Amino acid sequence: MKRIIIFDTTLRDGEQSPGASLDVNSKVEIAMQLARLGVDVIEAGFPIASKGDFNAVHKVAGSVKGVSICGLARAIKSDIEVCARAVAPAKRPRIHIFLATSKIHMQYKLKKAESEILKLAVWAVEYGRKFCDDVEFSPEDASRSDRDFLCKVVESVIKAGAKTVNIPDTVGYSMPVEFGSLINTIKTKVSNIDKAIISVHCHNDLGLGVSNSLSAIQNGAEQIECTINGIGERAGNASLEEIVMALDTRKDLFDAGTSINKKELYKTSRLVSKLTGIVVQPNKAIVGQNAFAHESGIHQDGILKKRSTYEIIRPQDVGFGGTKLVLGKHSGRHAFNERLRKLGFELNEAELLKAFERFKALADKKKEIFNEDLLSIVEDGIVSIPETYRLEDLSIVSGNKITPKATIGLTKSAKVFKKTSSGDGPVDACYKAIDAITGLKCKLLDYSLKSITGGKDALGEVTVRIKSNKDEVYGRGTSTDIIEASAKAYVNAVNKLIFSRLRKANPESAKLKL
Ligand code: KIV
Ligand code: ZN
Repeated sequence: MKRIIIFDTTLRDGEQSPGASLDVNSKVEIAMQLARLGVDVIEAGFPIASKGDFNAVHKVAGSVKGVSICGLARAIKSDIEVCARAVAPAKRPRIHIFLATSKIHMQYKLKKAESEILKLAVWAVEYGRKFCDDVEFSPEDASRSDRDFLCKVVESVIKAGAKTVNIPDTVGYSMPVEFGSLINTIKTKVSNIDKAIISVHCHNDLGLGVSNSLSAIQNGAEQIECTINGIGERAGNASLEEIVMALDTRKDLFDAGTSINKKELYKTSRLVSKLTGIVVQPNKAIVGQNAFAHESGIHQDGILKKRSTYEIIRPQDVGFGGTKLVLGKHSGRHAFNERLRKLGFELNEAELLKAFERFKALADKKKEIFNEDLLSIVEDGIVSIPETYRLEDLSIVSGNKITPKATIGLTKSAKVFKKTSSGDGPVDACYKAIDAITGLKCKLLDYSLKSITGGKDALGEVTVRIKSNKDEVYGRGTSTDIIEASAKAYVNAVNKLIFSRLRKANPESAKLKL
């Protein structure tokens, strides 16, 4: 299998996204995570651009191990010298020099003829090699350059000592077949191409950054320049996570792989989004919030029967929590019932029908139905949870210098059971005392408190999610005293647990129906 080099430019081209400026510490934090992700090269910045960027590249070069650290430079003496100083602390430093080769850039931006550009490119690479063994050269706007001239430049810079030649589709203008053919031309026409790595750098102006990169791989490209979340100048760059997962998912087609630790993809995406302030669109492939979410009844039914009916990637493989079945107006009974089961409700046919009707009516008014909505639907007249245990009394000893203690009295079948426990806080102490009475071993998975009325005597509502063996249930409790609300919520959850186990053991028991 061909090994594709992943050159990550999140900290350079990615940082060129409008408004995405990163300080030194943020760059180091992202670079550390990129190293954990397993990228081969980190382009950490453009050292001549600012003192801050110089410092960031220098610090990344000195602190991030196990990857090549690269800095960008124009074909200008001072750029190359400053870049060389910035990457010097790295064990594997790289200088990346770029110079435009398209007619439009040469004529209007650089005001230089082809012969001058050729000479300058060769000089820049030779000059860079004086400081660093690993020099990469990019003929900027390569995809709009004259192919014969481009091949001449590529051949000359390789002769001058460039180890990698990167072909950028700078303005995202190319089509996949056309870009693949450009790489093929370079591979076949440049006589010394076997002496260098051929790389591509595709922008996303027509939404084709990833497609063009994949087409380049099929035509012999060995290094891909890309960014996390596809951020970058204008519409951004080819997205790292999409390329990595396309190669992985379609190994049959590409016979190429990367060294990326896929389980770190989602975490890296979140970190980059947090530190750059650029939100990831929900429908973004691989790392968007909806990438593994299903709403329609047909899809949810398929997923519940066999996940691969509607998912080509296991969410856990990219570090995502798991498949999400969103309950909304398109959802069906299968997913609805499945969610109720998770909440601890085993409904019979008649109850399910009634609950599903209410759910559909609510879904017409509300975009997404949350677990709390489902609790209200089911507990309001469809299923009444027998109060096996009722909170009778509660007293707490707590303070900032003592271990909190809770004494709880629960009534069961007209008898009061009392226990005292200590805990990490008053709520924890209450829950331990309740467990000691019920004999159930419960793990608290979630706890949330909200105020449902205003003012100092506001009514607080506590929602808890607990797990005992494989059963998970929610419980709710309200009181003006938040410790009491917490205890009530826990007792409510325990009662549901007991009820749901009884129902599982005896689903048709008339006693248990309303
Ligand atoms: O898009 C581009 O051409 C670049 C070069 C500096 C490689 O970012
Ligand atoms: Zn670019």
